[in-house]
Amino acid sequence: MTDETVTYDIADAGLAELGRQRIAWADSHMPVLASIRERFAKERPLEGITIGACLHITTETANLLRTLKAGGATVVACASNPLSTQDDVAASLALDEGIATFAIKGEDTDTYFRHIDAVLDARPQMTMDDGCDLVSRLHRERPEQVADVLAGTEETTTGVIRLRAMEADAALKFPIVAVNDADTKHMFDNRYGTGQSTLDGIIRATNVLLAGKVMVVAGYGYCGKGLSERAAGMGANVVVCEVDPLRALEAVMDGYRVMPMADAARIGDIFVTVTGDRDVLRAEHFQVMKDGAILANSGHFDIEIDLEALAKMAGGRRMARAMAEEFQVEGKRILVIAEGRLVNLGAAEGHPAAVMDMSFANQALAAEWVLAQKGALEPKVYLVPKDIDAEIARLKLETMGIEIDVLTPEQVEYLSSWTVGT
Ligand code: ADE
Repeated sequence: MTDETVTYDIADAGLAELGRQRIAWADSHMPVLASIRERFAKERPLEGITIGACLHITTETANLLRTLKAGGATVVACASNPLSTQDDVAASLALDEGIATFAIKGEDTDTYFRHIDAVLDARPQMTMDDGCDLVSRLHRERPEQVADVLAGTEETTTGVIRLRAMEADAALKFPIVAVNDADTKHMFDNRYGTGQSTLDGIIRATNVLLAGKVMVVAGYGYCGKGLSERAAGMGANVVVCEVDPLRALEAVMDGYRVMPMADAARIGDIFVTVTGDRDVLRAEHFQVMKDGAILANSGHFDIEIDLEALAKMAGGRRMARAMAEEFQVEGKRILVIAEGRLVNLGAAEGHPAAVMDMSFANQALAAEWVLAQKGALEPKVYLVPKDIDAEIARLKLETMGIEIDVLTPEQVEYLSSWTVGT
């Protein structure tokens, strides 16, 4: 049923039916979130709150937004990346779910920020961000509106880093829950979600055979670890580049070759950046790369590959495939997937629903928790409470039909005693 009063800016309203089907498919893989939605519909913990959500507009996000709405919130949504929107999902959100949605796949930078502004125009009392663009713009461009906001949540590592910088500068004006830092988020979403969906994006864009290829992974955080493990599982010969000695050592002991990018650039067939920092692949590296090298980024922003430098060096460029652009550099071809933007969302569908189930269960429960604090929190970055994290793990196992052991009373007592030893 279409709600005539809902405003939106989407690519094609005619895609709503397809979007609805795909959202339902994702929902069938998100049982933890579905159980929260059922409870929210009864208890309405978000009643009367307007939530401004700047998230990747995907089938999984649609199910989160449906959950927030079931909890009583008015939801206004925009894309957190110009290339990650699934246009059929945006159409279904606007037309079937009555959620004001501002997102078009491939939107230019002006449209991207116009869409963020459309969310801010709704004067949200809560923010739900992925990368901190919504919160940053609110603080920088609309300081008079900041007092409207009770609290927020943040989905990703890059966003949490930006928020901690805001907190350190005393610039942050309301409390924000770092959903990314929950164990049931980053241990699974960042590792298994990014790991699988990054390879999915590279394969969809190029159909390249991974077996026997040298894959250079820049960054060995949870995302880099998951990606390296999955790529090795597909037969790739993984090389890791790191700046942190501890992580580099971990990569060595996990069985990978570790070297500086200056050396890796000469031998890599496929390069993936997952560092969160800029210019990880730059002119000096493009210069020495092999003909046919494939470059992809799976970090939040499109700054990890210095595309300006590559464009300057290139004698010519053309689209080799729908999602792969070829740059011709001194007789060599260098291919960049998905414009150097998040390859898993730009060239594939992002993380599978089964893993987003936990990430978005954290979002929904963090939103409920932070509102229940009723203004008692300071303008700081907060962690998801441990009991919420543990409950999500318990529920996920239950929905997977997996039982685990419980401690015997003797074991409980042993763990709390200090007198028993050898
Ligand atoms: N981030 C990574 N994968 C995602 C997905 N499928 N939906 C929303 N945000 C994501």
